[in-house]
Amino acid sequence: MAKESQNIFDKVVSLCKRRGFVFPSSEIYGGYTAIYDYGPYGVLLQNNVKNAWWNNYVKMRDDIVGLDSSIFMNPKVWHASGHIKGFSDPLVECKKCHSRNRADKMLEEIGVVADEKMDIEQINEIFFNNLDKIKCPNCGKKDFTKIKKFNLLVKSNLGNYTDEIGEEPSYLRGETCQGIYVNYKSVLDSTRVKIPFGIAQIGKAFRNEITARKFVFRTREFEQMEMQYFTRPEDEMKEYEKLKEERWNFFASLGFKKNNLRWKKHDNLVFYAKEAYDIEFKFPWGFDELEGVHARGNYDLSQHSKYSGVDLSYNDIELNKKYIPHVIESSVGVGRIIFALLVDAYNEEGEGKEKRIVLKIDKKLAPIKIAVFPLLSNKPELLEKSKEVYTSLKPNFFCEYDGSGNIGKRYRRQDEIGTPYCITVDFDTLKDNTVTVRERDTMNQERIDINKLEEYLSSNLKK
Ligand code: GAP
Repeated sequence: MAKESQNIFDKVVSLCKRRGFVFPSSEIYGGYTAIYDYGPYGVLLQNNVKNAWWNNYVKMRDDIVGLDSSIFMNPKVWHASGHIKGFSDPLVECKKCHSRNRADKMLEEIGVVADEKMDIEQINEIFFNNLDKIKCPNCGKKDFTKIKKFNLLVKSNLGNYTDEIGEEPSYLRGETCQGIYVNYKSVLDSTRVKIPFGIAQIGKAFRNEITARKFVFRTREFEQMEMQYFTRPEDEMKEYEKLKEERWNFFASLGFKKNNLRWKKHDNLVFYAKEAYDIEFKFPWGFDELEGVHARGNYDLSQHSKYSGVDLSYNDIELNKKYIPHVIESSVGVGRIIFALLVDAYNEEGEGKEKRIVLKIDKKLAPIKIAVFPLLSNKPELLEKSKEVYTSLKPNFFCEYDGSGNIGKRYRRQDEIGTPYCITVDFDTLKDNTVTVRERDTMNQERIDINKLEEYLSSNLKK
C-alpha cells in the first residue's frame, strides 16, 4: 500500500477502535485472526446498513420475500453446490517465516492472472516462473513451499458422536445463498410468489480465509446479504441488466461518492455462469470487490435437484411449460460495506486546535442522529432543561446526551462518529424556549423552537 493510502487505512482502523465501531475479537486474549466484533456504534451502523438493504428488497419490492435459514445444513448441500470439491484457494507457505498466503493474490499484485479454472499444477508453474518478481509479503524472502489447494469450508463436529474421523463433518455455511436454494420449493409452495421472484437473506457465513490483513474487508466469520432472483430461462439476461442498474442505484443511495465506485467485469467465468460483474470500491489499497452481481444459469437448482432427488422445476402456467428456473444474484458482505462507508466518509478539516475529524456519512446511516448538550454542565437549570429535550427526542431518534468537557470537545466527539445534529441548551433556552441546532457537515447553527424541533429534525434527517 502506498504511504498515503496506508495512512487512511490506519486512521480508519484507529477510529473504529477508539470510538467503539469495531474491536478485534477476544482482544484481552490477544485477539483471534480475521475475526472482529462490532462495538456500540458499529452495531448501530451495521443495523442501519442491513435495514437499508432489507427495505430496498423485501419491503419495497412486491416480487421479493425474506428468509432466515440456518447456518448448519445437511452436508449433502455442500456436495451439490460444489463447495466440497471446488471451494478452495491456492495456498503457498514461506519456508522462512511460515506465513501463509494466497498464491493467486500474490500473482495478481505483479499483474499475472491465476484464475479459478486453472489446476494447481498450472498455478505452480506460473508462480515459480515469476519468482524473480515475487517475495513473501511478511518477511520479503523468496523461499516457498509448493502451492496446495486449501478448502475454505469451516468444519464442525455437530452431531458427530465419535472421536474418530470417518463420519462426514457438518460445515458452517460458506455462503448464505445455499439456504435460499434449498428453501426455494418451500417458499414457492407456501406463498403466492410467481416467477420472476426473489428471496433475500441476511446472515452469517464462515470461510477459512488464508490471508486476512485487510481489517473487516476479509474475515473468517462475516455477515452476507444475498438476494437470489429466479427467472424464466429466456429472461435471465434481461433481468440481470435490470438488477445491475438497481444495485448501482442502491450503493448511490447509501451516499457513496460516485468516483469511489466502479463496475468490473469478470473475464474468467466459472463454467455455468453466464455473466458476472463486481461493484468495486476504491479501498485504501485500490479498487477491490464490494459486491458481486452474477447470472448463474440454472446450475444451482439443477444440482440440488440432482443430489436431493427432488424435482425443483417450475410449472409455468402462463407458458404451459416446466423448467428449472435460472438464477441471478447480488451478494455483499456487511463488514465490507461498513469499511467502505467509513473510508468514503472519513474527513479531516482545519488545522491545529481547529482541526476536526468528521465522518460525513449519509444521515440515514449515522449511528447516532442527535446529540443533546447543556451549554454548561454545572448549572442545574440547564441540566434539567437539556435532559427534558433529550428525553422528548429519544423515542423517535437514536440520541446521545453529553454533559462533560467543553462544548468544542463535545462537538468533536460527535463529528468523529458522524452525528448529523448537535443541540445545545443555553440560558436563552430558558427565556425563549429555543435551542441551537448545529449541522455536522457545514457546522452552521440555527435557533429552533423546542416545539418545532422534532419536525425540523425529521425533515432534515430525510434529506
Ligand atoms: N453467493 C456468491 C458468493 O458468496 P463471493 O464472491 O464468494 O460470492 C460475495 O462473495 C460477497 O461476500 C463479496 O463480494 C464480499 O462482499 C462478501 N465476502 C466474501 N468473502 C468475504 C470475507 N471473507 N469477508 C467479508 N466479506 C466477504
